[in-house]
Amino acid sequence: MPATIIMGGQWGDEGKGKLTDALARHADVVIRANGGSNAGHTISTPAGVFKMHLVPSGILNPACTCIIGAGVVVDPQALLAELDGLHARGISTDRLLISDRAHLVLPYHPLLDRAEESAREDQKIGTTLRGIGPAYADKVARRGIRVADLLDEASLLRKLTWEVDSKNQLLTQVYRQEPLDLASIYRDLVTTGSRLRPYVAATEMVVQDALAEGKEVLIECAQGAMLDVDYGTYPYVTSSSPTAAGACQGAGVAPTQVGRIVAVYKAYSTRVGSGPLPTELFDATGDLIRERGREYGTTTGRPRRTGWFDAVAARYVARLNGVTEIALTLLDVFDVFDEIKVCTAYRLNEVTINHLPAREDLLNQVTPVWTTLPGWKTDITGVRRPEDLPPEAQGYIAFLQEQIGVPITMVGVGPDRDQLVPLSDSAAIMQDRSAPATRR
Ligand code: IMP
Repeated sequence: MPATIIMGGQWGDEGKGKLTDALARHADVVIRANGGSNAGHTISTPAGVFKMHLVPSGILNPACTCIIGAGVVVDPQALLAELDGLHARGISTDRLLISDRAHLVLPYHPLLDRAEESAREDQKIGTTLRGIGPAYADKVARRGIRVADLLDEASLLRKLTWEVDSKNQLLTQVYRQEPLDLASIYRDLVTTGSRLRPYVAATEMVVQDALAEGKEVLIECAQGAMLDVDYGTYPYVTSSSPTAAGACQGAGVAPTQVGRIVAVYKAYSTRVGSGPLPTELFDATGDLIRERGREYGTTTGRPRRTGWFDAVAARYVARLNGVTEIALTLLDVFDVFDEIKVCTAYRLNEVTINHLPAREDLLNQVTPVWTTLPGWKTDITGVRRPEDLPPEAQGYIAFLQEQIGVPITMVGVGPDRDQLVPLSDSAAIMQDRSAPATRR
C-alpha cells in the first residue's frame, strides 16, 4: 500500500497533529519527517489535550509504530522531557523508534539561534529559538553530531571536543558570551544517550519493510510549505523542507512509494514570527480570528498573526507538492462572521499576478485581490455530515476547492477528535481508506 503524506499547506499550525491522529487510528507506521522541537502538534482527546513537539502524533494509537525520521533534528533533553510527559499520562512509547541518522540539537544551537536573532536587529526571523537553524546548518556543513554518535562514546567525545571548541570561539569572540563547558555537555549526552539508546534504529529499513509488507504508512511533516527553505518566504522560513519532497527525504521513502499527499489548510491564514503574510489583518477582524481560533503558538505561546485565506499561496503549494487532497480546518472560527474574504490574486505595480515573487521587496508590496463571500452565522461545531453544513459554508468550501484546484475531502469544525466532517467524494480518508485519491 503506498504511503500517505500529511503536510501543512500554509505557514504551519494548520492542525496537522489532529489529522495525523485521526488517520493514525488505522495506520501501522507514522513517521515524523522534518523539523524539531520548534513544532507543536496539538491533539484534543477525551483523555485531555496532548501537545507533541518531536514525537509523531500517532503515538496515541497503541498499535502504531512511531518513527522520528532522519530528516528531524532531535534535542535529546526536549525529547526525554516529552517522553516523560507521555509516560506520566499512561501513554506507552515502546513503539517509538528514532533514526540513527537524525542530527542532534546540542546546547550551543539554541544559544547561537538567540545570538544570531539578536544580531539581525530589525531583520529578525522570529525563530522559535530552539536551535533549529544552527543544527541544520551544522548538518549541511557536514559537522553535525547524529543520534548514531550517541551509541559510540569515543566518537561522540572526539566530535564534541572539536565542535564545542569551535562554537566557543564563535560564542566568545563574535557574540561576546560565556564559553560552554565540554565536560558537562558530554556527561549529559552520555546520560541522555543511554536513555535513548533502546529507541535508536535504522528506521529507513523499518519503513521500507513496512511498505514491502503492504502496511499503512503515514509521513507527518512539521511546519508548513510556505516555511520551506527553498520555496517559502525566504529568509523568513524554517531550515528544513516541510514539503512532499522533504517528507520523502526525511522519512526514507521514495517518491514512487507515495499514493496520497494530504495538505492541511486552515480556513484562514496565520503565521508566527516575521515575514510576508499578504492577507494579514491588523484590525478587530484579525483579533476575532485570533481569539476564536485560539491562535497562540503551541511551542512559544506567541500570538499568531492572522489574515484571510490566501488562495494564491494555497494554489502555489498545491501545485509544487502535487497535493491530491485537502483537509480544511477551523472552519467554525467563521461561525459569527457576516462575510468572509478570500484573496484570489495579487496586484503588483498595477499588474495582476498569480504567483509569489521571490524578491522580498516585491512580496511586501503585493496587494490582495479580494472576493467576498457570505458568512453562515450558525454554530457548525456539532455538524458531522456535509449536508448539514449551512449552504454558505458549503459555498465557501466549494469556492476554495475551485481556487486551489484540489478536492477538499475533510473539514474541521472544532478542536476535538470527532469534530471532522468527511466530505462526500472521499469521505474516504476516514471511512473508505482503500479509495484512490482523485486529482483534479
Ligand atoms: P525556526 O524553525 O525555529 O528556525 O523558526 C523559523 C520560522 O519558522 C519562524 O517564523 C517560526 O515562527 C516558524 N516556525 C517554526 N516552527 C513552526 C511551527 O511549528 N509552526 C509555525 N511556525 C513555525
